[in-house]
Amino acid sequence: MQNKQLLELFEDYLKANLPTSDSFHPIFENALQKMLYAGGKRFRPVLLLSVVNSVEPLLTKNALPIALGVEFLHTYSLVHDDLPSMDDADLRRGNPTLHKTYDEVTAILVGDALNTHSFNLLANAPLSSDVKIELMKVLSSDGGIDGMIIGQAIDCYFENQTLELSQLEFLHIHKTAKLIAGSLKMGAIIANLDLATQEKLYNFGIDIGLLFQIQDDIIDETSSEEEAGKTTSNDGAKNSFVNLLGLDGAIKSADKLSLKCQNDLKVFDENIQENLNTLLSKYLNRHK
Ligand code: IPE
Ligand code: IPE
Ligand code: MG
Ligand code: MG
Ligand code: MG
Repeated sequence: MQNKQLLELFEDYLKANLPTSDSFHPIFENALQKMLYAGGKRFRPVLLLSVVNSVEPLLTKNALPIALGVEFLHTYSLVHDDLPSMDDADLRRGNPTLHKTYDEVTAILVGDALNTHSFNLLANAPLSSDVKIELMKVLSSDGGIDGMIIGQAIDCYFENQTLELSQLEFLHIHKTAKLIAGSLKMGAIIANLDLATQEKLYNFGIDIGLLFQIQDDIIDETSSEEEAGKTTSNDGAKNSFVNLLGLDGAIKSADKLSLKCQNDLKVFDENIQENLNTLLSKYLNRHK
């Protein structure tokens, strides 16, 4: 299956498995589904599926609930990231943010629901219990206090205070790169790749994740809201790569990292190499 077909497979699965909330609450279910339905690049789930599909294509379908769980957790992080107490953003995935359409309470609880439900999806997936425990360890760690959460906490706490370069890297590795690295690793776990390859894919994912966040910071500086589909020019107080390195510095650092990633990819088996190369071509070949 090609990457494009993986994305279609994932979108169909998502539409058939939108979370529901069977109650008399008049708007909660709509709110719960709105940001998932609104789209997004689906970068993390497709990375996961691409690894499985490269190694054990017969398991790709079984991996769909795991890919969906990752997307739920990521979408929760976006809903909370946009809240007035965090980044205070009005636009997300081409739509008004949830706290704008509804209210803050609804946005907070939708985030909570997507977070917990991601683990429900993992628990109920058609995979062995041993595999599912390993997957839960990765998602709870890379999406939790050893990953995205501590990254977000540092991102918000240190607004208007300039971090050192090593702290900047720590922030972005945790906030963004770990969940991306974890997605590749989860694909490797499902495909039953050996521990050394799991680790190599994870480390590759950290570099790709950093590259992804540098590019995201460049988008905040250079893209319109229409192009980005989200609030931009919103990083003024942040320790973004653009603020610390300047726009040219951020672009140079992304170029350098993309060369490293191209090189790192060479250690993987041909199928993984080829599929990840296609999937990541926008990041790996930045100026083509
Ligand atoms: C945005 O993530 C938040 C970051 C970690 C930079 P994405 O750029 O993957 O957002 P969607 O999923 O495409 O909306
Ligand atoms: C957010 O980073 C990372 C998350 C964990 C959600 P940003 O705050 O830069 O993401 P955007 O630019 O709002 O999508
Ligand atoms: Mg943020
Ligand atoms: Mg933000
Ligand atoms: Mg951003």
